[in-house]
Amino acid sequence: MTLLQVQGVSLSFAGSKVLQGVNFAVAEGAIASLIGPNGAGKTSLFNCITGFYKPQAGSIRLAGTETLRMKPHQVTRSGIARTFQNVRLFREMSVTENVMSGLHCRTSAGIIESILRLPGQRREEMMIRDFAEECLTFVGITEGWDRDATTLPYGWQRRVEIARALATKPKLLLLDEPAAGLTSSEKEDLIGLIGRIRDQRGISVLLIEHDTGLVMRVSERISVLDHGVMIAEGAPKEIQANPKVIEAYLGVEDGEASLGL
Ligand SMILES: Nc1ncnc2c1ncn2[C@@H]1O[C@H](COP(=O)(O)OP(=O)(O)O)[C@@H](O)[C@H]1O
Ligand SMILES: [Mg+2]
Repeated sequence: MTLLQVQGVSLSFAGSKVLQGVNFAVAEGAIASLIGPNGAGKTSLFNCITGFYKPQAGSIRLAGTETLRMKPHQVTRSGIARTFQNVRLFREMSVTENVMSGLHCRTSAGIIESILRLPGQRREEMMIRDFAEECLTFVGITEGWDRDATTLPYGWQRRVEIARALATKPKLLLLDEPAAGLTSSEKEDLIGLIGRIRDQRGISVLLIEHDTGLVMRVSERISVLDHGVMIAEGAPKEIQANPKVIEAYLGVEDGEASLGL
């Protein structure tokens, strides 16, 4: 079954076309990747899917429900979570509090209750903390929960961000270049984590990633965006052999090498 359906999405800024009639789908239970040269529009497409950008045309549906006119927090509540290309954790908040902030989109306690700290609200706060700690453990962070999140080593901060996204209880997780800046052993852990997110939590995963070796290993389907146009979609082997894809990458660095050929 189709979980995410993007149809005819076009986005432009001051006349410059960033996305042009993009059609794209993610199946329920899939691990899929979105690749393409720098500036292709990958992050912009994520921003459309998550409600940060409003495309001028098209339709974006999650499990059949149109999300295009939703605000970002409504999109989160409908079941789409994301991490950012540049890690965005809250300063002067602990690791656990950062993850707890993800869960607040699903809780009932309002501002007044938070200030008064009513008994029901305290119980809810404890449940939120427990779930946040469970998410941290799931991503492999079992210590340092009280530290200011932004003082953690970089690779850990990336995982805290994934934990915060998981805390929103998504159906679909969008990861924007999750392997950027990771060491090779951290990349191995990431591949394992992406598999567990899908297999153990039943969450579908869509990643944007430049490390094509990692993309080829982890993805079941790959979509390729170039200059705002979706130029190919298929299994990793098909994508590696697709002349349009090779051409899009050629002249970018070493196209064939960057495709892992
Ligand atoms: N808020 C914005 N205002 C103007 N131009 C933007 C904005 N966001 C993205 N763009 C432009 O859209 C194009 C695609 O950018 P982006 O989606 O970040 O590409 P990618 O993630 O594939 O590298 C770039 O030319 C970028 O400058
Ligand atoms: Mg980007």
